Amino acid sequence: MFPSNVYKERRNRLRKEIKNGLVLFPGNQEVAYNYPANTYTFRQDSNFLYFFGLDHPDLAAVIDLDEGKDYLFGNDVDMDDIIWMGKQPTMKERGVKVGVENTQPLKDLDEMIRKALAKKRTIHFVTPYRGETKQQLSDLLGIPYKDLKAKASPELIHAIVKLRMEKDDLEIEEIEKMVDVAYIMHTTAMKMAKPGVVEREIAGVLEGISVSHGGPVSFPVILTINGQTLHNHYHGNVLRAGRIMVVDAGSESDMHYASDITRSFPVGGKFSDRQKEIYQIVLNANMAGIAAVKPGVPFHEVHSLAALEIVKGLKDLGFIKGDPVEAVKKGAHFLFFPHGLGHPLGMDVHDLEGLGEDNVGYDDEIKRSTEFGLSSLRFGRRLQKRFITTIEPGIYFIPDLIDLWKSEKKLEDFINYKKVEEFRDFGGIRIEDDVLVTNAGHRVLGRPIPKTIVDVENIMSE
Ligand code: GLY
Ligand code: MN
Repeated sequence: MFPSNVYKERRNRLRKEIKNGLVLFPGNQEVAYNYPANTYTFRQDSNFLYFFGLDHPDLAAVIDLDEGKDYLFGNDVDMDDIIWMGKQPTMKERGVKVGVENTQPLKDLDEMIRKALAKKRTIHFVTPYRGETKQQLSDLLGIPYKDLKAKASPELIHAIVKLRMEKDDLEIEEIEKMVDVAYIMHTTAMKMAKPGVVEREIAGVLEGISVSHGGPVSFPVILTINGQTLHNHYHGNVLRAGRIMVVDAGSESDMHYASDITRSFPVGGKFSDRQKEIYQIVLNANMAGIAAVKPGVPFHEVHSLAALEIVKGLKDLGFIKGDPVEAVKKGAHFLFFPHGLGHPLGMDVHDLEGLGEDNVGYDDEIKRSTEFGLSSLRFGRRLQKRFITTIEPGIYFIPDLIDLWKSEKKLEDFINYKKVEEFRDFGGIRIEDDVLVTNAGHRVLGRPIPKTIVDVENIMSE
């Protein structure tokens, strides 16, 4: 945990953003996996962690903006709990760790909320994303399940986005440590990627590396020789020469800060000529995107710049025709690069996304585009100092998408379908780094993970 004053300061900053009422933070509860006593690994809610730091189930917290007091709700353990889980800190002791003096049993929360509702005080909460929390809020507040999203507090959502998007030094250090763990994961995968190995043998090793350095993987590992499927979680293929393996994997620290890194490399360790050509375009787009990261630049422009790099490269190889700028405007790149260039990164891999993509990635100035291609970009607003974003361009040959576009004769003036057909079994390539926005520009976080063709081939030959 961070020192208690970090959490106090965060709560004080939140107070300055919201006028009055109560702010209610339900912590997460255990969630049953296949029967009640067998639960998923516990993951605390990120907002709760940010303001109240405690990483245990069945807690709730309230910031009373009018009284200027903070409250923690939770029960001290009983003997039965001690027998199964060992001795636990008391709620008082937990409160001290995060600078909260007022700790009360969980049942007192009902009473506090009931009184506040009777006095018609505003109760701020954010849209819940788990069934258990939806039920809890619905019961506490008397709001039907289906109306919780509409009744969530825009004031609180915007305040949290404002605070959490700007990472402090402690948070940057945590994330950078996890990129260093990702270094071990990705270079290990590169060295293991030999013909005959089954994907899951490597995926399992990567999960073990993550766990042994602090926490679980930060999202289900994507590791596949079929990288044309963007989030491919099937790990049953046998690696064979001629395929590119895409590994998109990161690690979560014991404080729940994440890394998110993608590398793509040839099974067996040597890129073929055509793999090199496509790989180099993706790498150029990754580097052009990174180079453009600086305070004040709208992220949708960084995305479009990377898309232009991809289109220019694909034009040189004969996949795309016509004016590259016009091709990007029309969305021709979307056949090959059908996703956004990146997303904020923090405690959540898609940081803060639970608060709503548009609340996080867009603002009053920059609204989500309705244009084909750009409309799928979850992050478009201007970058600010201390934001952390991923930069993750890719080129994919998705047979079903190719068939659809071709049958519709879509953007025929820009796409050479005959050439595209030659690559329909190519697979996909994505290269992703985690980038901090600094005063002057940017810094790629962590120990550099090999990504040039030479560096990747070198490490794979070790
Ligand atoms: N690394 C998974 C994603 O960005 O969606
Ligand atoms: Mn990502």
